[in-house]
Amino acid sequence: RERERMGSKASEKPHAVCIPYPAQGHINPMLKLAKLLHYKGFHITFVNTVYNHERLLKSRGAKSLDGLPSFRFKTIPDGLPLTDANATQHIPSLCYSTSKNCLAPFRSLLSVLNSSPNSPPVTCIVADGGMTFTLDAAQELGLPEVLLKTHSACGFLCYLHYAHLIEKGLTPLKDATYLTNGYLDTVIDWIPGIRSIRLRDIPTFIRTTDPDDIMLKYLAVEMERAQRASAIVINTFDALEHDVLEELSRLLPPVYSIGSLHLQLNQIPADNDLKSIGSNLWSEEPECLEWLDSKAPNSVIYVNFGSITVMKDEQLIEFAWGLANSNITFLWVIRPDLVAGKLAVLPPEFVEETKGRSMLASWCSQEQVLNHPAVGGFLTHSGWNSTIESVCAGVPMICWPFFADQQTNCRFCCKEWGIGMEIDGDVKRNYIEGLARKLMEGKEGKEMRKKAMEWKKLAEEAITAPNGSSFLNLDELVNQKLLSPK
Ligand code: UDX
Repeated sequence: RERERMGSKASEKPHAVCIPYPAQGHINPMLKLAKLLHYKGFHITFVNTVYNHERLLKSRGAKSLDGLPSFRFKTIPDGLPLTDANATQHIPSLCYSTSKNCLAPFRSLLSVLNSSPNSPPVTCIVADGGMTFTLDAAQELGLPEVLLKTHSACGFLCYLHYAHLIEKGLTPLKDATYLTNGYLDTVIDWIPGIRSIRLRDIPTFIRTTDPDDIMLKYLAVEMERAQRASAIVINTFDALEHDVLEELSRLLPPVYSIGSLHLQLNQIPADNDLKSIGSNLWSEEPECLEWLDSKAPNSVIYVNFGSITVMKDEQLIEFAWGLANSNITFLWVIRPDLVAGKLAVLPPEFVEETKGRSMLASWCSQEQVLNHPAVGGFLTHSGWNSTIESVCAGVPMICWPFFADQQTNCRFCCKEWGIGMEIDGDVKRNYIEGLARKLMEGKEGKEMRKKAMEWKKLAEEAITAPNGSSFLNLDELVNQKLLSPK
């Protein structure tokens, strides 16, 4: 009877199959969008890779992720060996493997879902912008497909211009000396929607000497295929990236800025069951928040380099002593795999010296941390989720971009939005100490904090004002039947 009840109820709902790119910075925003769609009446199937599904179960100490009858989790393999953790953190391998291996299992999954008595027929696909093989499956079934771009609009616009950078001979690089001979300072002033930026601010995959580079090829395909989507949604908001969004709208199928997704999600009542569905691949340490409770407003610098960044041991040590010598209170979240090739371990003298004004952890609830009144600055790798979360929390940043669109995000934070200071060149302890002081105690930091609070207000207005751009865009996406079969 329960089955029947679920079945008949389910058959009234549209059914969205949501498939993120299999990395933390992509699963998080996709899960948020899936929750919003569920809240707006959709049945959701959320598709993780087998590998990530296992990690999600492990980090939650759970046997299943399924909690709600109309929000189900399914898996497909990513094509990489299940035992090789390094491969799934290696973005070129993952991009290559997903684009070559995931279409067949995805097709089979859609067919299983369409013949299941427990869920309504699939009515649309919502896929990550890096998983465009799904467009073939959508097309075969006559389904609309929306692509979610989890990076910044400015990063996305640069990716769209990769073809022109190749045409103009700006990439691939002639040889490896071009990485260090000043070439990357070449100014690019011909991308409409972006004032002049340097080659070094363009997403990093152009920094190759290989014309057959996996990422150059992969991105060329993904950008071209994006044209086939019914719509493209981006986790940003109009006031923040207005000119870039206008330009994207000129180049692509309908573009909807619907961010920030976490502010959209905050509009859902706190007691909604959706809130319990999490997406952390690492286990969270709630002690961070308790520790922050004991600290004065704006007194703590929060340090976190996201889910993919790897650094050299020497860099970890320079960051550590820079923070220690600044005398500023800090919360530093260090993933166990943050250092390339070995476990990230800090010198015992550093731990001893900063005892009492530091908290070290391996994963935290970042949105809660950034929104804690004690946090006054963020030392970040400028991943797009981290950036938009910081913007929405009104927290200024020190930016140490690692790869992909992070360089572009950093440029915009520092030069366009007035809320970031870039770590230029090598990580040196004196430099880190100086920047940390400047951000937390200096005049410049104070001005940036004020500016960040202005952006926070605009981010909130995009969701909560009667004509809030992101609120209206999400509404239009759902109600203008873009997600319904023609
Ligand atoms: C990558 C890219 O670099 C990014 O620019 C791209 O758009 C998505 O994928 P990643 O290293 O995962 O980024 O960083 P980021 O985009 O900032 O995403 C990390 C996510 O994990 C954020 O949502 C953040 O809140 C969350 N997180 C991180 C935690 O919840 N706890 C942590 O301790 C660290």
